[in-house]
Amino acid sequence: MPDPSASRLIIRRPDDWHVHLRDHELLQSVVGYTARQFGRAIVMPNLSPPVTTVAQAAAYRDRIRAALHPAHASFEPLMTCYLTDESDPAEVERGFEDRVFAACKLYPAHATTNSEHGVTDVSRIRGVLERMQRIGMPLLVHGEVTDPAVDVFDREAVFIERVFSKILADFPEVKAVFEHVTTAEAVSFVESRGANVAATITPHHLRINRNAMFEGGIRPHFYCLPVAKRERHRLALRRAATSGSTKFFLGTDSAPHSIGKKEAACGCAGVFNAPFAIESYAATFEEEGALDRLEAFASEHGPNFYGLPLNEERVVLERGPCRVPERLEAGREEIVPFHAGEELNWRFKGSAAAAQAVP
Ligand code: DOR
Ligand code: ZN
Repeated sequence: MPDPSASRLIIRRPDDWHVHLRDHELLQSVVGYTARQFGRAIVMPNLSPPVTTVAQAAAYRDRIRAALHPAHASFEPLMTCYLTDESDPAEVERGFEDRVFAACKLYPAHATTNSEHGVTDVSRIRGVLERMQRIGMPLLVHGEVTDPAVDVFDREAVFIERVFSKILADFPEVKAVFEHVTTAEAVSFVESRGANVAATITPHHLRINRNAMFEGGIRPHFYCLPVAKRERHRLALRRAATSGSTKFFLGTDSAPHSIGKKEAACGCAGVFNAPFAIESYAATFEEEGALDRLEAFASEHGPNFYGLPLNEERVVLERGPCRVPERLEAGREEIVPFHAGEELNWRFKGSAAAAQAVP
């Protein structure tokens, strides 16, 4: 157990179980931020067009690997299959057996960015879900209903009643991750289910509530989906993340959009937190008096749920001021990172072996 006043924290290299790495120029600009901190990452398939086939996922994985700096060559992108009404159980299984697909992603159609090809009704993918349950392939769920009559702040809680409960009633053994949970209801739901149901929690939902989007004016860089909720929900998330429960693990949902796309009349949803992700989680865990549980949340619960080995390498976090820039260059564009202009108390120093070599 680490000494709470220690100046260094050495943990297994963490993994990010939910990230948007994008494609083309933006991929080149952002992948290094994830690859420098994390050993592996579950890469979201919501490209345009979406990643729906084994061939598309393999090609995207190659583009990610080609975009890596040689210093990050050991970073492992874990690919996901975007489910549509037309998804074929045989293609899904082939991708999983060939170790191209690590999981499938369920986006309810029109729930979020590039989800227009998503699933219109879960009844359309029964065959896929049945197959996934049989082969133990994880189902990653964007848990929001799209019914415009449902208030945007209630869409996650209503999804539990209308959709998630039914999926699990019909497929009780399916391995399911409730992605980026934002409500006390989602935390309770995950806690009430068996070991086959888990959740990821983002850095930003642990730090902001919905007021952050309206502080002194509209703050588009805090807008994401699912949207941040009331303070009581944020507190429930902090309790879950730091509880030590193996059901909750790290997933940043880092979702970069250029400044122009965020600061617009109809701004895009997404928080770009990859550059200071582990520092942000460390701040939260320290505030909760739970730094000794950071490693399990960041580096153990995720691989254990997915049935993958833990990373052997260790990384160093050093106590000390870590200033977050107001904006970061991304090719010809700029992006505002989460914590822009703030000073965090922990700094990521990279691999423990390399850090020791530096005097
Ligand atoms: O805020 C979000 N941004 N939520 C999502 O579900 C998608 C993501 C994106 O791709 O930009
Ligand atoms: Zn996401």
